[in-house]
Amino acid sequence: MTPSSKFPYPPFDLATRVAKLPSNDFAGFIHYEMAGRELRQALIDLLPDRYELAGRRVLDFGSGSGRTLRHFASEAETGGDYWGIDIDAPSVTWMQQNLCPPFNARVCGTAPPVAFESESFDLIWALSVFTHLTEHSAEWLLELHRVLKPDGLMIASYMGRWNSETLAHEPWDETRIGMNVLQHDRPWDRGGPVVLMSDWWIEEHWGRAFDLVDRRPRVFNQTWQLLRKRDVSITPDELMAPASCDEREMRALRHNLIQLQREATRLRDEVEAWQENVAEVQRSLSWRMTAPLRRARGVIGRSD
Ligand SMILES: C[S@@+](CC[C@H](N)C(=O)[O-])C[C@H]1O[C@@H](n2cnc3c(N)ncnc32)[C@H](O)[C@@H]1O
Repeated sequence: MTPSSKFPYPPFDLATRVAKLPSNDFAGFIHYEMAGRELRQALIDLLPDRYELAGRRVLDFGSGSGRTLRHFASEAETGGDYWGIDIDAPSVTWMQQNLCPPFNARVCGTAPPVAFESESFDLIWALSVFTHLTEHSAEWLLELHRVLKPDGLMIASYMGRWNSETLAHEPWDETRIGMNVLQHDRPWDRGGPVVLMSDWWIEEHWGRAFDLVDRRPRVFNQTWQLLRKRDVSITPDELMAPASCDEREMRALRHNLIQLQREATRLRDEVEAWQENVAEVQRSLSWRMTAPLRRARGVIGRSD
């Protein structure tokens, strides 16, 4: 019996939107199952030795339809209070219908606040979420800080070092990446925006609200950071403000501009290539010969 065999799997579209599945069949869902188990194990490996998960209040921020959360059923059933939240209403509805109880699930907005009382969670994780948050990233980090208990722990993943070639089409260079945003308006269902972060930037900025306790490189091609809430009150602007004495801050901003210019050029080239294809079709003999049919369809369409 698998740890989560008592739960059904979500429909393919919900399962594959959090990480692309190879196929919509048994093999695809084995992949989903194994990834969830590995994510659970990676969380446990990064928590402090002998960290007790039973009896805790835990939040999976950006849970999707519970790929990771579903593997904590035994803890949730034995006195734990385990929550998943996500902006995607179909994913959350599916969780509510299929995983709750023992879990709890709630939809949240794209920006905070979230309807949880302050200082109420022992542990929060956010896996592959800050990897996509753009203008609300600092607000969310501080919202999670608010709902964590004093000294509460958080595990958050970020990407950059292991993904630069694939996502930014350039070799990784730590000194020119801070929090660099690409594909800003890409919809979630096509993977969402891409946020590249470097270790020094995390230390400088997240370190203003959290102690950086431990870090694991390259877990699922991301860096996982274990954080402990610091007793500080800080605004999103203060968290994001560039460190004045670190020239990498300016370099990263300049480089983000270059990356965006490259992105714009690539898009323009794609649009031009597409327009050229359309023009070629329109010049073709078959297109010109079928023009009367298209005109007739237009007239019929207008008379409806
Ligand atoms: C790449 S998926 C990862 C899902 C899950 N953490 C996992 O590893 O299976 C990112 C998730 O974050 C969610 N998300 C994006 N913006 C969010 C926000 N502002 N608040 C909560 N969830 C958000 C998306 O809907 C999506 O389900």
